[in-house]
This record gives sequence, C-alpha cells and structure tokens, in this order.
Amino acid sequence: MGRKHRMLAVAVRPGQKNSVHLRDDVRKPSVKDVPEGRGVLVKTLKVGVDATDREINDALYGNAPEGDDYLIIGHECFGIVEQVGSAVKHVKPGDYVTSTVRRNGDSKYDRIGRSDITSQEEYYERGINLRHGFMTEYFVDDAEFMVKIPKKLKHLHVLAEPMSCAAKAVEQAYLAQQRLQVWEPNLAFVTGSGQIGLLATLALRNRRCEVYTLARSPKPNLKARIAEGLGATYISTEKTSLKKLAKKVGKPDLIIDATGCSKNSFECMKVLAHNGALVWTSITGGKNKFKIDGSKINLEWVLGNKLLIGSVNANWRHFERGIADLALGEQTYPGVLKQILTHPVEGLENYQQMMDLLVAGSALKVYVNVADDPNDKRK
Ligand code: BGC
Ligand code: ZN
Repeated sequence: MGRKHRMLAVAVRPGQKNSVHLRDDVRKPSVKDVPEGRGVLVKTLKVGVDATDREINDALYGNAPEGDDYLIIGHECFGIVEQVGSAVKHVKPGDYVTSTVRRNGDSKYDRIGRSDITSQEEYYERGINLRHGFMTEYFVDDAEFMVKIPKKLKHLHVLAEPMSCAAKAVEQAYLAQQRLQVWEPNLAFVTGSGQIGLLATLALRNRRCEVYTLARSPKPNLKARIAEGLGATYISTEKTSLKKLAKKVGKPDLIIDATGCSKNSFECMKVLAHNGALVWTSITGGKNKFKIDGSKINLEWVLGNKLLIGSVNANWRHFERGIADLALGEQTYPGVLKQILTHPVEGLENYQQMMDLLVAGSALKVYVNVADDPNDKRK
C-alpha cells in the first residue's frame, strides 16, 4: 500500500492502559467501501474528545473491531464532504457534516433505525466500541449516518455530537412525561457543568424552563459565565447544596444529571418534585460504592409517582434537534456557546497533549484541529 493510500490516525490498544498512539498505516477509505452508492467520503477538520476517550485510554471499556488489535478513537467529528456515491442525495461535496456514533446491531430497535436504544447488550459505536472512530484524516460512512451542519454553525463544529446527547436526554423526559397527561415543567436543575450539563441547560432554556445549573466550582468561573449567559442560574455546590437549593427555590420538575459522579446521581433522587423526572446521562466507568437511603427514597418515589430515565447516545433525529437547539441558542444568546470550545490542539501528531489535557481534567472542551477548512483558503 503506497503512502498515498494511507493516512494518520490516533488509536489505543483496548485493554492496555495509556496506549494512545499515532499510526501512519491506516488505509485511506473510499466511497466504494459502502455498497449501493451510499458512501460519503469526509475530510476530517476537527474531532472533539471527552471523558469517554480518557476512560477508553484508561482501559475501562472500549473494544477493537474484529480482526484488529487497535481501536481508532474519536466520536465527535466535524468535516467537509469530499465525495459522495451515486445514491447520496442529502449531502454533497463541500457540505459540512458530522456523523452519528452508534451503528446497527440486530435488535428490533436497530431494525427501525434506533440503534441508540438497541436492546442488545453489545453495542457498536464508532471510536468507542467495536468500530473505528473519526480521529483520522478521512472517514467514510453510509449516507444514512451523515448529518449536515449549517454553514452558519460551523464555528460550533464538534459540539453537534454532545448536543445531540443532551437533546435526546431532554426529549426522553418530555416523551416519557406524557404519562401524566398534563406536564408543564417550570423548574429544572442540571447537575454538572461540563459540556453535557451546559448543553442540557441550553435545551431546557430553549423550552422556556427556569434552570439552575449546579457544579462544584465557586463563582466567578467560565462555566458559570456560560450557564448564566444562557439565562440559567449557576449554583456552586460548595456554597449551596442540592438540598438547600431545593428548600430555597422549590423541588424541580425535571433534573438532568451530568456530573459523571454516581453518588450525585442518587443525591438527585432526594430533591425531585412529585411527578418529576430525573434523567441520568453520565457514563460512570469506575467502581464507586456508597450507602444510600434506600427505604426513604423508595417511599418518596412511590408516593410521588416519580420517574427515572437513563439516556445514552443519540439518533439522527436527535442530531437534527440538537443542531436546531444550537441555532436557536446562537440567536437568543449570541456568542455564548462558542465559549465552550476552550482547548484546541493543533494536529493529530499532538495526540499526547490532547490526552494530557483530558487527564488534567480542568479543560471544559478539548478538540483537535485535524486540517484547515479548504473553504477558508478559497476566500
Ligand atoms: C458518547 C455517546 C456514547 C456514549 C457511550 C458518549 O461519550 O458521546 O455517543 O453512546 O459515550 O459509549
Ligand atoms: Zn461523548
């Protein structure tokens, strides 16, 4: 295979701690890799990383595709379409796109295009489990997984994927709450002010909720400024606990937990209003154990008809909804969302810097600038 047909990629050896490395032996994909003219070849411009990538590099989960001993990481992609197969209609060369993460298994949910709610225990996710990710110079996929990003939102690039997960989490609550016949949530808490917490804050503000976003750090800090820029109230839990806040402003109708801390996920159960919904979104890779007030929580939840929802991943539809949320957010709170994109890393070669930033844990958002946008050069 000549150099021309190979490309760079950032990968890990699953099961081996701290194995992140750069490869130069990965075959450059072709639109023809996807049958029936449905392939889309994308030049990668940016790839975002999050705690999932850190935990994969910590060997807490993640598997290589069958036949390979490495897994290319990266599941938050942003790129420009270079070539499409003959059957592809909804994207064309020059369009900005992102791609969904999960790929179909065999359950009935996969068969109706809802791999995000597959009932199979084994799931396929690009860059995470059993499928290579996007941290490469190019990637190819079936047009069915490609989502167009409007040119006016290209400055928010890698936020499309985390936004889709936040949009799904909020949507799940609204769908499930139809059980109540009437549900008009006024007060919502979001715990955690990482990217999912802030983007869930946006989704709830877009739905006209009064939102309190809670996180550890005292004000002033960037996350607080972003949350408040989105019209929410930021609360430092070092100053005001979840319980104290609920006493002061009332019990919330909806809580989205995005702390990555399982103890907090359970703490949220103690402050939810009657008929409320609590959505858990954190992937907690560790084995943290703690005591809970089982009987009390059980009693309150039964007497209060409360609902707990786990929400993971996102489907094509949630990407569309998420992109609409970003667009509305830009209109209502101009310039706020791009402040989430704090830590760019220049080039795939700097993968170690990328991982170090993730491990240090103080960066709100780390992403890699993989290539310059060819549209910018044409100007
Ligand atoms: C990703 C999701 C994925 C989940 C579980 C998250 O970091 O953004 O798309 O489903 O991890 O692997
Ligand atoms: Zn993620």
